[in-house]
Amino acid sequence: GPLEEVSLPLYFGWFLLSSIQDKIKCTSMDFLKTLDTLEAFKKHLIDFSGKAEEVDLEQYFQPTGILHCTTKFCNYGKAEGAKEYAEKQAVKDSYGSIFDLSLGALFVTPRTFGARVSLTEEQLQLWPADADAEKQVESVPAAASLPLGSRAHVTLGCAEGVEPVQTGIDLLEILTLQQEGQQGEQVEEMELGTLTYYGTGKWLLNLREPISAPACFSSFYG
Ligand code: A2P
Repeated sequence: GPLEEVSLPLYFGWFLLSSIQDKIKCTSMDFLKTLDTLEAFKKHLIDFSGKAEEVDLEQYFQPTGILHCTTKFCNYGKAEGAKEYAEKQAVKDSYGSIFDLSLGALFVTPRTFGARVSLTEEQLQLWPADADAEKQVESVPAAASLPLGSRAHVTLGCAEGVEPVQTGIDLLEILTLQQEGQQGEQVEEMELGTLTYYGTGKWLLNLREPISAPACFSSFYG
């Protein structure tokens, strides 16, 4: 019946508690505010926006709602492996529990702004291993050789017209470059950490101190 048809959510994931949402929003806005004033950033503006004009990054990225780290995009059951994921014992056991997510880096591309999440072994139990999300990204074929959970992230903002699903793809692109041995160009020691440029508008800030973010494992129906 109709009830069964909507019994699977749009996605499962960790939803950051509201106190830490505010802190992350502040930290990330401070980072954007500083980034677009850096000479190094201005030097690569063409890569970033296709124009040499200055950009106001705080305006450029639109917020995308409640901060969360998607584990499995189910699309109400239409996504491959959705039912299997929802039926996993680990998923049922952990549903409604609080986890501590570690946000180790912030990244910015012309399309998206996000935070990289480093998953623990326990948290990886909730990462879809079968229909591994990383391996389905056709635009980043090399991502298939990255460790499980590499895609884990929190979307902080998207450029106009860009869907949040792009954030994970952008992260995989950066991690693929790192894995291929591209060191990037270390451009700046910022208060928050080390800023590296990976070309074509891709920036990564490795946080000196990872942000510890309490988050509830749950699902979103929309
Ligand atoms: P993300 O987790 O990177 O933020 P939407 O609102 O576009 O339907 O997306 C809902 C959530 O599911 C967003 O958090 C989004 O990206 C994520 N998402 C959307 N499509 C996919 C997909 N194909 N694979 C993985 N995650 C997705």
